[in-house]
Amino acid sequence: MILTEKETTILKDLQTQEKACMDHYNLCASTAKDGCLKDLFTQIAKDEQEHYQFLGQLMDGQIPSYKSTDSAASKAFSYQPKAAYNAGSNQADKQHDALLCTDSIGNEKMVSADYNTNLFQFGNGEIRKCLNHIQTEEQEHAEMIYKYKKANSMA
Ligand SMILES: [Fe+2]
Ligand SMILES: [Fe+2]
Repeated sequence: MILTEKETTILKDLQTQEKACMDHYNLCASTAKDGCLKDLFTQIAKDEQEHYQFLGQLMDGQIPSYKSTDSAASKAFSYQPKAAYNAGSNQADKQHDALLCTDSIGNEKMVSADYNTNLFQFGNGEIRKCLNHIQTEEQEHAEMIYKYKKANSMA
């Protein structure tokens, strides 16, 4: 699989973005006040690391192996967070965690849109499918964080 110069540049840029996402979630995991939210951010950081690796494989001319899941089997579908915050909780902690969530959802929106736009630049259908898979996972990240916010009356 030979990539054009433009395709290679796009993959490189997406990889830089994935690195930033990974760093973002690791930082969020280290500063989140609630343990369940820390776990969620840690889990998402691992996905972002996998995305980074997938893009590296594509740049090496390989198609990464991943499982395409239907919506009922998705990570977001099975994620059922319980409320960590209630009326008696520390409100400053809650606000802090809510801000991390809101920032992260905004980020995922942007990244997801970026995949959608860039996908159209590729000639190879397998690469498009892989980028589409990553894009779906970004949407699921936002969905899981939204579910967390909702469970904790932050949304
Ligand atoms: Fe990602
Ligand atoms: Fe993401």
